Amino acid sequence: MKNFISVKDVSDINALVAKALKYKANPYADRMLGVDKKIGLLFLNPSLRTRLSTQVAAKNLGFEAIVFNVDKEGWALEFEDGAIMSGTTVEHVKDAAPILGQYFDVLCIRAFPSLKNKEEDYSELVMKSFVQYAGVPIVSLESATLHPLQSLTDIITIKEQIEKSKIINRKSKIVLTWAPHIKPLPQCVSNSFAQWVNAWGEADFVITHPEDYELDEQFTKGATITQNQDEALKDADFVYVKNWSTYTDYGRIYCNDPSWMLTEEKLKLTNNAKVMHCLPVRRNVELSDEILDGNNSLVTMQAGNRVWAAQAVLSEILKAK
Ligand code: CP
Repeated sequence: MKNFISVKDVSDINALVAKALKYKANPYADRMLGVDKKIGLLFLNPSLRTRLSTQVAAKNLGFEAIVFNVDKEGWALEFEDGAIMSGTTVEHVKDAAPILGQYFDVLCIRAFPSLKNKEEDYSELVMKSFVQYAGVPIVSLESATLHPLQSLTDIITIKEQIEKSKIINRKSKIVLTWAPHIKPLPQCVSNSFAQWVNAWGEADFVITHPEDYELDEQFTKGATITQNQDEALKDADFVYVKNWSTYTDYGRIYCNDPSWMLTEEKLKLTNNAKVMHCLPVRRNVELSDEILDGNNSLVTMQAGNRVWAAQAVLSEILKAK
Protein backbone atom coordinates (compact mmCIF):
# COMPACT_ATOMS: atom_id res chain seq x y z
CA MET A 1 0.00 0.00 0.00
CA LYS A 2 1.57 3.27 -1.13
CA ASN A 3 -0.83 5.75 0.50
CA PHE A 4 -4.06 5.35 2.50
CA ILE A 5 -6.51 7.97 1.31
CA SER A 6 -9.55 5.89 0.42
CA VAL A 7 -10.73 2.30 -0.05
CA LYS A 8 -9.22 2.49 -3.54
CA ASP A 9 -5.79 2.13 -1.93
CA VAL A 10 -6.76 -1.27 -0.52
CA SER A 11 -6.41 -4.33 -2.75
CA ASP A 12 -8.12 -6.79 -0.37
CA ILE A 13 -10.39 -5.45 2.38
CA ASN A 14 -10.83 -8.82 4.09
CA ALA A 15 -7.06 -9.38 4.20
CA LEU A 16 -6.58 -5.96 5.82
CA VAL A 17 -9.34 -6.71 8.33
CA ALA A 18 -7.71 -10.07 9.12
CA LYS A 19 -4.41 -8.29 9.68
CA ALA A 20 -6.05 -5.81 12.05
CA LEU A 21 -7.64 -8.66 14.01
CA LYS A 22 -4.27 -10.40 14.15
CA TYR A 23 -2.89 -7.27 15.80
CA LYS A 24 -5.86 -7.14 18.16
CA ALA A 25 -4.99 -10.67 19.30
CA ASN A 26 -1.27 -9.91 19.46
CA PRO A 27 -0.53 -6.15 19.50
CA TYR A 28 3.25 -6.60 19.51
CA ALA A 29 3.51 -9.20 16.72
CA ASP A 30 5.48 -6.70 14.59
CA ARG A 31 7.03 -4.62 17.35
CA MET A 32 10.33 -4.23 15.46
CA LEU A 33 8.81 -3.16 12.12
CA GLY A 34 9.00 0.59 12.80
CA VAL A 35 12.21 0.69 14.82
CA ASP A 36 14.33 3.74 13.86
CA LYS A 37 11.42 5.11 11.86
CA LYS A 38 9.37 8.23 12.53
CA ILE A 39 5.77 8.97 11.78
CA GLY A 40 4.43 12.54 11.68
CA LEU A 41 0.82 13.15 12.68
CA LEU A 42 -0.37 16.54 11.40
CA PHE A 43 -3.66 17.85 12.71
CA LEU A 44 -5.37 20.79 11.07
CA ASN A 45 -8.45 19.98 13.20
CA PRO A 46 -9.21 18.50 16.64
CA SER A 47 -9.27 14.79 17.45
CA LEU A 48 -9.42 12.36 20.35
CA ARG A 49 -9.68 8.83 18.88
CA THR A 50 -7.80 9.30 15.64
CA ARG A 51 -4.84 10.99 17.25
CA LEU A 52 -4.41 8.64 20.21
CA SER A 53 -5.26 5.37 18.44
CA THR A 54 -2.77 6.14 15.67
CA GLN A 55 -0.11 7.01 18.25
CA VAL A 56 -0.75 3.75 20.10
CA ALA A 57 -0.72 1.78 16.83
CA ALA A 58 2.58 3.40 15.84
CA LYS A 59 4.08 2.58 19.23
CA ASN A 60 2.98 -1.06 18.94
CA LEU A 61 4.94 -1.26 15.68
CA GLY A 62 8.05 0.35 17.20
CA PHE A 63 7.67 3.75 15.45
CA GLU A 64 8.35 7.06 17.07
CA ALA A 65 5.20 9.14 16.52
CA ILE A 66 5.39 12.94 16.64
CA VAL A 67 2.19 14.98 16.73
CA PHE A 68 2.00 18.49 15.30
CA ASN A 69 -1.19 20.51 15.77
CA VAL A 70 -0.75 22.60 12.65
CA ASP A 71 -3.93 24.57 13.34
CA LYS A 72 -2.65 25.81 16.73
CA GLU A 73 1.14 25.60 16.55
CA GLY A 74 2.13 25.87 12.91
CA TRP A 75 2.19 28.48 10.18
CA ALA A 76 -1.09 28.86 8.29
CA LEU A 77 -0.66 26.78 5.14
CA GLU A 78 -1.56 27.84 1.59
CA PHE A 79 -2.71 25.17 -0.85
CA GLU A 80 -3.77 27.13 -3.94
CA ASP A 81 -1.33 26.81 -6.80
CA GLY A 82 -0.05 30.23 -7.91
CA ALA A 83 -1.58 32.01 -4.90
CA ILE A 84 -0.41 35.55 -4.21
CA MET A 85 0.20 35.07 -0.51
CA SER A 86 -0.62 38.54 0.71
CA GLY A 87 -3.38 37.32 3.08
CA THR A 88 -3.40 35.16 6.19
CA THR A 89 -1.48 32.14 4.90
CA VAL A 90 2.23 32.14 5.66
CA GLU A 91 3.72 29.02 4.07
CA HIS A 92 2.83 27.11 0.89
CA VAL A 93 2.33 23.34 1.07
CA LYS A 94 4.84 23.11 -1.81
CA ASP A 95 7.50 24.35 0.61
CA ALA A 96 6.32 22.67 3.82
CA ALA A 97 5.45 19.16 2.59
CA PRO A 98 8.87 18.22 1.13
CA ILE A 99 10.51 19.30 4.39
CA LEU A 100 8.13 17.16 6.43
CA GLY A 101 8.91 14.33 4.00
CA GLN A 102 12.56 14.62 5.00
CA TYR A 103 11.75 14.51 8.71
CA PHE A 104 9.34 11.56 8.61
CA ASP A 105 9.04 8.11 7.00
CA VAL A 106 5.22 8.33 6.94
CA LEU A 107 3.00 11.42 7.19
CA CYS A 108 -0.55 11.25 8.50
CA ILE A 109 -2.84 14.23 7.93
CA ARG A 110 -6.21 15.35 9.31
CA ALA A 111 -7.82 18.16 7.32
CA PHE A 112 -11.58 18.73 7.48
CA PRO A 113 -13.61 20.44 4.74
CA SER A 114 -14.57 24.10 4.87
CA LEU A 115 -18.21 23.20 4.08
CA LYS A 116 -18.27 26.53 2.20
CA ASN A 117 -17.11 25.48 -1.27
CA LYS A 118 -18.17 22.04 -2.49
CA GLU A 119 -15.92 21.95 -5.54
CA GLU A 120 -12.88 22.91 -3.47
CA ASP A 121 -13.65 20.42 -0.68
CA TYR A 122 -14.47 17.57 -3.06
CA SER A 123 -11.27 18.18 -5.04
CA GLU A 124 -9.38 16.97 -1.92
CA LEU A 125 -6.74 19.63 -2.53
CA VAL A 126 -5.09 19.32 0.90
CA MET A 127 -4.62 15.55 0.85
CA LYS A 128 -3.60 15.54 -2.83
CA SER A 129 -1.05 18.31 -2.20
CA PHE A 130 0.66 16.29 0.53
CA VAL A 131 0.67 13.21 -1.73
CA GLN A 132 2.17 15.32 -4.53
CA TYR A 133 4.84 17.19 -2.56
CA ALA A 134 5.82 15.17 0.56
CA GLY A 135 7.62 12.32 -1.19
CA VAL A 136 6.67 9.84 1.56
CA PRO A 137 3.52 7.73 2.09
CA ILE A 138 0.47 9.71 3.21
CA VAL A 139 -2.22 8.35 5.52
CA SER A 140 -5.52 10.20 5.80
CA LEU A 141 -6.66 10.83 9.36
CA GLU A 142 -9.89 12.23 7.83
CA SER A 143 -9.98 14.44 4.80
CA ALA A 144 -12.50 16.81 3.25
CA THR A 145 -14.68 13.98 1.95
CA LEU A 146 -13.54 10.68 3.51
CA HIS A 147 -12.46 9.04 6.78
CA PRO A 148 -10.90 5.73 5.69
CA LEU A 149 -9.35 4.71 9.02
CA GLN A 150 -12.80 5.06 10.60
CA SER A 151 -14.40 3.00 7.82
CA LEU A 152 -11.81 0.24 8.06
CA THR A 153 -12.51 0.18 11.80
CA ASP A 154 -16.22 -0.07 11.09
CA ILE A 155 -15.80 -3.08 8.78
CA ILE A 156 -13.50 -4.73 11.36
CA THR A 157 -16.16 -4.20 14.05
CA ILE A 158 -18.96 -5.55 11.84
CA LYS A 159 -16.93 -8.60 10.79
CA GLU A 160 -16.05 -9.36 14.39
CA GLN A 161 -19.74 -9.24 15.34
CA ILE A 162 -20.83 -11.36 12.39
CA GLU A 163 -18.29 -14.02 13.33
CA LYS A 164 -19.33 -13.82 16.99
CA SER A 165 -23.09 -13.93 16.41
CA LYS A 166 -22.89 -16.46 13.57
CA ILE A 167 -25.11 -14.60 11.10
CA ILE A 168 -24.84 -17.34 8.51
CA ASN A 169 -26.62 -18.49 5.37
CA ARG A 170 -27.61 -14.91 4.60
CA LYS A 171 -26.01 -11.55 4.13
CA SER A 172 -26.21 -9.25 7.13
CA LYS A 173 -28.21 -6.05 6.70
CA ILE A 174 -26.40 -2.79 7.43
CA VAL A 175 -28.30 0.51 7.68
CA LEU A 176 -26.67 3.93 7.64
CA THR A 177 -29.14 6.39 9.12
CA TRP A 178 -28.95 10.17 9.22
CA ALA A 179 -29.43 11.67 12.70
CA PRO A 180 -30.14 15.22 13.87
CA HIS A 181 -27.36 17.57 14.99
CA ILE A 182 -27.12 21.22 15.99
CA LYS A 183 -24.21 22.04 13.65
CA PRO A 184 -23.60 21.39 9.94
CA LEU A 185 -21.16 18.45 9.90
CA PRO A 186 -19.05 17.11 7.01
CA GLN A 187 -20.22 14.16 4.92
CA CYS A 188 -16.83 12.40 5.36
CA VAL A 189 -17.77 9.57 7.71
CA SER A 190 -20.97 8.74 5.83
CA ASN A 191 -19.35 8.99 2.37
CA SER A 192 -16.52 6.81 3.53
CA PHE A 193 -18.71 4.24 5.29
CA ALA A 194 -20.84 3.95 2.13
CA GLN A 195 -17.75 3.64 -0.07
CA TRP A 196 -16.26 0.88 2.10
CA VAL A 197 -19.46 -1.14 2.62
CA ASN A 198 -20.14 -1.01 -1.13
CA ALA A 199 -16.58 -2.04 -1.96
CA TRP A 200 -16.67 -4.81 0.65
CA GLY A 201 -19.87 -6.14 -0.91
CA GLU A 202 -20.72 -8.66 1.81
CA ALA A 203 -23.89 -7.04 3.19
CA ASP A 204 -27.27 -5.72 2.12
CA PHE A 205 -26.73 -2.00 2.50
CA VAL A 206 -29.46 0.59 3.04
CA ILE A 207 -29.01 4.34 3.54
CA THR A 208 -31.84 6.39 5.03
CA HIS A 209 -32.06 10.15 5.40
CA PRO A 210 -34.63 12.95 5.22
CA GLU A 211 -35.34 14.80 1.97
CA ASP A 212 -32.43 17.03 0.81
CA TYR A 213 -29.71 14.97 2.53
CA GLU A 214 -28.66 12.89 -0.50
CA LEU A 215 -24.95 12.04 -0.40
CA ASP A 216 -22.61 12.08 -3.41
CA GLU A 217 -23.59 9.19 -5.64
CA GLN A 218 -19.97 8.27 -6.31
CA PHE A 219 -19.91 6.86 -2.76
CA THR A 220 -23.48 5.58 -2.32
CA LYS A 221 -23.95 3.83 -5.69
CA GLY A 222 -24.92 0.23 -4.98
CA ALA A 223 -26.84 0.97 -1.77
CA THR A 224 -30.63 1.07 -1.42
CA ILE A 225 -31.61 4.62 -0.48
CA THR A 226 -34.88 5.55 1.22
CA GLN A 227 -36.37 8.48 3.12
CA ASN A 228 -38.47 6.07 5.19
CA GLN A 229 -36.35 5.35 8.26
CA ASP A 230 -38.76 2.76 9.73
CA GLU A 231 -38.75 0.79 6.49
CA ALA A 232 -34.95 0.95 6.36
CA LEU A 233 -34.56 -0.26 9.95
CA LYS A 234 -36.71 -3.35 9.40
CA ASP A 235 -34.65 -6.51 10.11
CA ALA A 236 -31.37 -4.58 10.24
CA ASP A 237 -28.42 -6.35 11.89
CA PHE A 238 -26.32 -3.17 12.19
CA VAL A 239 -27.46 0.44 12.40
CA TYR A 240 -24.77 3.07 11.81
CA VAL A 241 -25.92 6.44 13.10
CA LYS A 242 -24.41 9.65 11.75
CA ASN A 243 -25.37 13.21 11.05
CA TRP A 244 -24.24 14.97 7.89
CA SER A 245 -25.03 18.35 6.37
CA THR A 246 -26.55 18.70 2.90
CA TYR A 247 -24.40 17.79 -0.09
CA THR A 248 -26.43 19.20 -3.00
CA ASP A 249 -27.03 22.69 -1.55
CA TYR A 250 -23.72 22.30 0.19
CA GLY A 251 -23.04 22.37 3.93
CA ARG A 252 -26.48 23.31 5.24
CA ILE A 253 -28.98 22.08 7.79
CA TYR A 254 -32.39 21.78 6.13
CA CYS A 255 -34.34 19.50 8.45
CA ASN A 256 -33.37 18.74 12.03
CA ASP A 257 -36.36 16.58 12.87
CA PRO A 258 -35.70 15.03 16.33
CA SER A 259 -37.84 12.03 15.37
CA TRP A 260 -34.86 10.81 13.30
CA MET A 261 -32.92 10.12 16.53
CA LEU A 262 -32.59 6.36 17.10
CA THR A 263 -34.45 5.16 20.20
CA GLU A 264 -35.15 1.77 21.84
CA GLU A 265 -38.63 1.92 20.29
CA LYS A 266 -37.19 2.25 16.79
CA LEU A 267 -34.66 -0.48 17.50
CA LYS A 268 -37.56 -2.90 17.93
CA LEU A 269 -38.02 -2.75 14.15
CA THR A 270 -34.57 -4.27 13.65
CA ASN A 271 -33.15 -7.75 14.10
CA ASN A 272 -31.92 -6.72 17.56
CA ALA A 273 -29.40 -4.60 15.66
CA LYS A 274 -26.05 -3.55 16.99
CA VAL A 275 -25.68 0.23 16.97
CA MET A 276 -22.58 2.02 15.75
CA HIS A 277 -21.37 5.63 15.76
CA CYS A 278 -17.89 6.98 15.03
CA LEU A 279 -17.97 9.39 18.03
CA PRO A 280 -17.91 12.07 19.29
CA VAL A 281 -21.69 11.95 19.71
CA ARG A 282 -24.13 14.56 20.97
CA ARG A 283 -26.17 12.55 23.49
CA ASN A 284 -29.93 12.85 23.21
CA VAL A 285 -29.57 14.86 20.00
CA GLU A 286 -27.92 12.36 17.64
CA LEU A 287 -28.36 9.24 19.76
CA SER A 288 -30.37 8.60 22.92
CA ASP A 289 -28.79 7.76 26.28
CA GLU A 290 -30.82 4.54 26.33
CA ILE A 291 -29.18 3.35 23.12
CA LEU A 292 -25.67 4.53 23.93
CA ASP A 293 -25.77 2.98 27.40
CA GLY A 294 -27.66 -0.13 26.31
CA ASN A 295 -26.52 -3.62 25.38
CA ASN A 296 -26.82 -3.07 21.63
CA SER A 297 -24.28 -0.26 21.48
CA LEU A 298 -20.92 -1.12 19.92
CA VAL A 299 -19.51 2.39 20.10
CA THR A 300 -16.83 1.77 22.75
CA MET A 301 -15.62 -1.43 21.12
CA GLN A 302 -15.73 0.31 17.75
CA ALA A 303 -13.54 3.16 19.01
CA GLY A 304 -11.18 0.59 20.57
CA ASN A 305 -10.77 -1.03 17.16
CA ARG A 306 -9.34 2.22 15.78
CA VAL A 307 -5.93 1.07 17.09
CA TRP A 308 -5.98 -2.16 15.08
CA ALA A 309 -7.13 -0.45 11.89
CA ALA A 310 -4.33 2.11 12.14
CA GLN A 311 -1.79 -0.59 13.00
CA ALA A 312 -2.76 -2.72 9.98
CA VAL A 313 -2.52 0.27 7.65
CA LEU A 314 0.83 1.52 8.99
CA SER A 315 2.21 -2.00 8.80
CA GLU A 316 1.11 -2.41 5.15
CA ILE A 317 2.57 0.96 4.24
CA LEU A 318 5.88 0.22 5.90
CA LYS A 319 6.18 -3.17 4.23
CA ALA A 320 5.61 -1.56 0.81
CA LYS A 321 8.25 1.15 1.34
N1 CP B 1 -14.13 9.17 15.08
C1 CP B 1 -13.13 10.07 15.11
O1 CP B 1 -12.47 10.33 14.08
O2 CP B 1 -12.91 10.61 16.33
P1 CP B 1 -11.94 11.85 16.62
O3 CP B 1 -12.50 13.03 15.85
O4 CP B 1 -11.96 12.04 18.09
O5 CP B 1 -10.58 11.51 16.09
